[in-house]
Amino acid sequence: MKKILECISEEMKNAFEAAGYERELGKVTISNRPDLCEYQCNGAMAGAKQYKKAPIMIANDVAAKLEGSKVFAKVEAVAPGFLNLTLENTFVGEYIKEMRTAEKFGVEEPEKVREIVIDYGGPNVAKPLHVGHLRSAVIGESVKRIARYMGHNVTGDIHLGDWGQPMGLIMNELKIRKPELVYFDETYTGEYPAEPPFTISELEEIYPFASKRSKEDSEYKENAMACTFKLQSGVRGYRALWNHIIAVSVTDLKKNYENLNVEFDLWNGESAVHDLIPGMVDYMKKEGYAYLSDGALVVDVKEETDTKEVPPCMILKSDGAALYNTTDLATIMMRMEQNKPDELIYVVDKRQELYFDQVFRCARKTKLVNEDTEMKFLGFGTMNGKDGKPFKTREGGVMRLENLIKEINEEMFKKIIENRDVEEAEARETAKIVGLSALKYGDLSNQASKDYIFDIDRFTSFEGDTGPYILYTTVRIKSILNKYMENGGNVEVANIQAPVNQSEKQLMMELAKFNTSMEAAYEETAPHKVCSYIYDLANAFNHFYHETKILTEGDEVKKAGWIALLALTRDVLETCAYLLGFKVPERM
Ligand code: ARG
Repeated sequence: MKKILECISEEMKNAFEAAGYERELGKVTISNRPDLCEYQCNGAMAGAKQYKKAPIMIANDVAAKLEGSKVFAKVEAVAPGFLNLTLENTFVGEYIKEMRTAEKFGVEEPEKVREIVIDYGGPNVAKPLHVGHLRSAVIGESVKRIARYMGHNVTGDIHLGDWGQPMGLIMNELKIRKPELVYFDETYTGEYPAEPPFTISELEEIYPFASKRSKEDSEYKENAMACTFKLQSGVRGYRALWNHIIAVSVTDLKKNYENLNVEFDLWNGESAVHDLIPGMVDYMKKEGYAYLSDGALVVDVKEETDTKEVPPCMILKSDGAALYNTTDLATIMMRMEQNKPDELIYVVDKRQELYFDQVFRCARKTKLVNEDTEMKFLGFGTMNGKDGKPFKTREGGVMRLENLIKEINEEMFKKIIENRDVEEAEARETAKIVGLSALKYGDLSNQASKDYIFDIDRFTSFEGDTGPYILYTTVRIKSILNKYMENGGNVEVANIQAPVNQSEKQLMMELAKFNTSMEAAYEETAPHKVCSYIYDLANAFNHFYHETKILTEGDEVKKAGWIALLALTRDVLETCAYLLGFKVPERM
């Protein structure tokens, strides 16, 4: 379906042409003076020089051609030469009617379906999820849903941190605590037990303990490194133990991500590319990309236009060990083989920007990717507390994600109970759904790269630019539609009519921006654009709602028209909520 701005511009271009001017001058934009008009065209100003005429004369010529237009109710040529435009109600009504029946409310299928891999989540095995991982999961999930909705093939990969030093630390500590475990008996040749020798809470306690100790005790650290080495070189018992660590940890992660409404297609970890690394390294050496520098194997990635220094990308350390870089590069190689992506998107803390810059340059230079493969770093800022410093628990520790969610749900529950007479069990259920919207909307409504302040009180408010406000508005619409149906009305057969007042027209004009806004959100990888779209839409709806007595309207056709409009508004709001990764409850 054509965008509304295209339809309007088309009409204007025809008028410029009919008046003897160049078509392209007829570009229309949304008015920057909404008090004066709805849309505007500045083409007469732009054409003045070329036609050696006062802009107002051109504007007058064009306005004359638009008399009787089916698109514009009013075209005013005003000094020095602007065209102020007001849309015809029937035109707006017709557009919205078509939007209601169009596939995806008028979002067109892409000319070329792109293959996209999104790398997001990025949790580390055996470490509890903390708020830093929240942003990656929340933003990545939304970026994925938006791209899919636009018609592209998208694969989401969690890229688990499951292979480096932390693994050795855990195993070494286990060995100290439970030396009798069969996994450490290198002469053992039998089957290993199916049951893991630890629980998730034990694992989560072990890692920070071991990590702290390794910083204080160099012998301890060396032993841990030896364990990492044994794991990576394939010692059976270590591999078996590692499998348990992964399984226990992944089960727990799945539960956590499920609570967040976040899903991954691939649960690959850094370990998935271990066997690809030697081949990749050989290739980089053979082609002359990689060379030895102080014993380490590196690839130069600096470019002439650099304004700050971009250090070489290190492929292997001097002891021959692989690094974070190495697994990322090998992962790119694997994705190119398995998914043949046109685009790779990484949703990672923006402090890793320079690192990804090196990795991307290296991948491009060494031709791991095709010339036209896009690599995009979507770096996000820090979630801060009210003090402007990175968010912490009240005691000053790192906040675990599940505790953060609990806090939000508790606050939401309080507000729901305050507002309404509702059973506790139902209020708890609703608080979970609404709490998730508070958390996600609070994050996604900011441009990803910016830091933001996590403010539970504001995020859970039913008023203002918040998730609960959006849900509350949608639930309000649902309840009107339910009442209409209880009184024998049929929402499905109700037909959109031309708007009868300004607030109804405003609501329609907001709805009409759906395809444009979603396209922008996709193209700019910007979920916050979905938020600002639904915020405007929810405001326009509430304005209309306060000015219009819908259910008591006596004119049935008019009433049905409003009901149809409400149903469309509900569907659009629910679709956007889905794209942001949360749901709308039936009641609130
Ligand atoms: N596990 C990493 C961390 O916690 C994030 C992974 C980001 N993705 C990647 N492909 N490097 O910092």
